[in-house]
Parts: sequence; C-alpha cells; structure tokens
Amino acid sequence: MPKVTYIAFDGTKYEVEAKTGSTVMETAIKNGIPGIEAECGGACSCATCHVYVDPQWTAVTGEPSAMEEDMLDFAQDANETSRLSCQIKIDDNLDGLIIRIPESQA
Ligand code: FES
Repeated sequence: MPKVTYIAFDGTKYEVEAKTGSTVMETAIKNGIPGIEAECGGACSCATCHVYVDPQWTAVTGEPSAMEEDMLDFAQDANETSRLSCQIKIDDNLDGLIIRIPESQA
C-alpha cells in the first residue's frame, strides 16, 4: 500500500498507508488527520480540502483540471503547488507522497 505523509501547519507529521483508488482527501479523513474539512465530500465543489503538494511530487500528481483550478480560486493562500486533495487519486506511483496542510481552510 502506498505511504502518504501529511505535514500539518505546525509541523506535525502523519505517515499513513493509503488504499489504491482512494483519494488523498479520503485517506486523511479516514485516518483522522486534522486540517482537511472536505465539506462537499469530494465533489470538487467546496475547496475545503485544499493542500500543498510537496514540490518534488507535483510532476507525479499532475495538474489540476479546469474545474479544480476554478475551485482553487476560493482556497485561502493557494499557490502553484496547491491542489484539492479530493482530486488526487492514490496509485502505486504516489508511494512516498508528501502533502502539506494549510493553516486554515477558507
Ligand atoms: Fe470539496 Fe474536495 S472535498 S472540493
């Protein structure tokens, strides 16, 4: 199972095993990782699952879709590494993925 490390805004690290086919958001919620609210349940319509992908992983996670880009406009402090975690599907290529959680969700 791919391992994903979530780094909270205060630096706390959570290393968890993720299920292939689930999303980075679902994996966080399932493991009780704080800071990802996911109000819309993964429908790409709330932007409260905003995360930063570690720069060494952005090429692997890929670009946000046009719809995701639009939603990211509502995320607080978004930057070029921002993604909506419900839109990142876990597969074996993401083993070792590092995700940073923003200070707050908009
Ligand atoms: Fe709502 Fe990701 S959970 S956009």
